[in-house]
Amino acid sequence: MSETDKIEKEALDAISAAGDLAALDGVRVAELGKKGRISGLMKTLGGMSPEERQEMGPKLNGLRNRVQDAVETRKSELEEAELEKKLQTERIDMTLPPLAAPEGRLHPVMQVFEEIAAIFGDMGFTVAEGPDIEDDWHNFTALNFPEGHPARETHDTFFFDPQEGAAPKVLRTHTSPVQVRVMETQKPPIRILVPGRVYRNDWDATHTPMFHQVEGLVIEKNIHMGHLKGCLIDFVRDFFEVDNVEARFRPHFFPFTEPSAEMDVKYTKVGDSIEIGAGDSWMEILGSGMVHPNVLRNCGIDPDEYQGFAFGMGVDRLAMLKYGMPDLRPYFEADAGWTRHYGFRPWLSPSVSGGLS
Ligand code: PHE
Repeated sequence: MSETDKIEKEALDAISAAGDLAALDGVRVAELGKKGRISGLMKTLGGMSPEERQEMGPKLNGLRNRVQDAVETRKSELEEAELEKKLQTERIDMTLPPLAAPEGRLHPVMQVFEEIAAIFGDMGFTVAEGPDIEDDWHNFTALNFPEGHPARETHDTFFFDPQEGAAPKVLRTHTSPVQVRVMETQKPPIRILVPGRVYRNDWDATHTPMFHQVEGLVIEKNIHMGHLKGCLIDFVRDFFEVDNVEARFRPHFFPFTEPSAEMDVKYTKVGDSIEIGAGDSWMEILGSGMVHPNVLRNCGIDPDEYQGFAFGMGVDRLAMLKYGMPDLRPYFEADAGWTRHYGFRPWLSPSVSGGLS
């Protein structure tokens, strides 16, 4: 075997043995690179006699061309193999089930707000809101709390430091100030529902310093206590999803309503949970009454022309009752595990626009 045949065989063997593109390029450089073996042979042509060159020229050219071709062929083989490997490993398996998307939950308070708004929405109420930081006028004075009256103290109010020349602001102790804000700016007939956060300095298993209320206000002509009772009995029936609810309106005192009444519903204990509607015990669920003429006057409404009723209820407690949650404190601890357990899927919840399904 001639020297060039031997070199060719070695080069071709090395090319077909190259397992990847990097190895192949190593062979190419070793043979055909500037300092490669075959390139070295090509350079010897310059020093040959014409006869020798005539014989060796075509031989060496042939050698170089065949090795070059072999490198190209092997290169496309390896590239194809690499692509094939990629296609295999990066293939998407369409038969795999999709991963579940992380999904949040509605807090029970939000769910119950929605439920209450949907029920009153069907009765023609619209939602109104007001600020959490209130002034003394809206939280107390306009609502007929006399200056220095003990009723102001029963609210355990959080006061802000007084500003120069202005009455101290408060964290609103109830949603009733929104009654005043609406009556000051809208003409009757008024039918509003006010969900919101309220604040009182209180802390135990059933009281947190921040909690939630829903307030209702109806101001129209010829409104009387019968409307108040009918409306609230319908609400309780819809909210607790029971056909008959035994309810009573027990006389009470609020400065801003006259007469005032607390609404109690009958309930019975079944094991750890509570069933609303019948039984042998009464449970207070909300405060209500006919809007006091002084409140109407304070808001520029003539009490001889318009009357109305108002009610206010604690949403957190209603949620506890309806969904069987024993303790109020975890409501506000932002524990995702608790919310996953007691929370609601957003798209299953009723909304004001969609109604209850
Ligand atoms: N604002 C009262 C409270 O927080 C509830 C209430 C509202 C009572 C409207 C009567 C009418 O206790």
